[in-house]
Amino acid sequence: MANALNLDTVVLSEDGKSVVILDQTLLPNETKYLSLNKAEDIWEAIYKLRVRGAPAIGVTGGFGYYILADQIDTEDMDEFVTKCTEIMEYLNSSRPTAVNLSWALNRMHAVLLAEKDGKTVAEMKERLKKESIDIWQEDIQISRNIGAYGYELLEQLGKGVGVMTHCNAGTLATAKYGTALAPIYIALEHGWDPKNDLHVYCDETRPLLQGARLSAYEMQTAGVDTYVQCDNMASYTMKSGKIGIIFVGCDRVAANGDFANKIGTSGVAIIAKHYGVPFYVCAPSSTIDMTLESGDEIHIEQRKPEEVTEMWYEKRMAPEGVGVVNPAFDVTDHSLVTGIITEKGIATAPFKESFEKMGIRPIEKYVDRK
Ligand code: MRU
Repeated sequence: MANALNLDTVVLSEDGKSVVILDQTLLPNETKYLSLNKAEDIWEAIYKLRVRGAPAIGVTGGFGYYILADQIDTEDMDEFVTKCTEIMEYLNSSRPTAVNLSWALNRMHAVLLAEKDGKTVAEMKERLKKESIDIWQEDIQISRNIGAYGYELLEQLGKGVGVMTHCNAGTLATAKYGTALAPIYIALEHGWDPKNDLHVYCDETRPLLQGARLSAYEMQTAGVDTYVQCDNMASYTMKSGKIGIIFVGCDRVAANGDFANKIGTSGVAIIAKHYGVPFYVCAPSSTIDMTLESGDEIHIEQRKPEEVTEMWYEKRMAPEGVGVVNPAFDVTDHSLVTGIITEKGIATAPFKESFEKMGIRPIEKYVDRK
């Protein structure tokens, strides 16, 4: 199988008319790209997790904004702005928790509002194209920087370290490299032996199995000694002493360091505290939402019951009519977090002060879900 690191997660097509995504719902069994240029198709790809992971959704939002703006048939700037606002609001309604989607849409819209005066619609479209490409390119560099900071922690722990992760915050969740798995890719670049120097434990991540399908696939195709464990095995593995560090990604961090990530993350953090395993969150600064004081304000996406009762099973495995709980994310309390690794450095408690010292500030919001 091809090294997942060589697959493009999300790119702009050569003619600049479509966003091309790797359909992650088919991995690891099938590698298929989709070329999307209709608003409904881009929305569906985000909602159905064909493209997923907070930074990758943000990059898709940026490209989606540009592609759909480019299709607007008007030379009147006011009409152009009105239609761009509709595009932004529509794309933003696809998934609520990862702030990177609204962050990228807000960034595109801010450029439009700040630079429209004195420009033609055609010139503005070119400017938006550049902005969407910048968001994509910056994401690659940001992930590498996160990886470099995370690699310093791996070096301190020494070769042979066991790393646990939850969900997928690897190259598939970003433009390239990932956040939580980026330290592993950087360690490999530094010549670490993938079979002996690193042992990666991927939580399966019920109900959508991002850990088993995506993280394990990424790590295995990179040649790394990789294990999948059901989510309820994390305590067993930590108690055994095999885990030196935990890296997870995140979808939104509040100013106090509380953060939302894939459902099950908070349980991992609680167990890690019990066994004294360092627990690190890996996040581009675009995931830090300084407008929220605490995790209580983060909107948690609720998804369809069938993902729990039917998906992946040959036959339905729970009784018809039973109630189902299916939050896609949970919020981990900042007191359980050892550090938050960003592209600007590693933030530690008190997190708000740490973020402010790094220059992370609230952004202007034109659209968001609370
Ligand atoms: O529902 P998903 O698969 O989009 O959830 C993804 C996660 O929870 C990731 O850990 C998070 O987005 C960070 S990706 C770098």
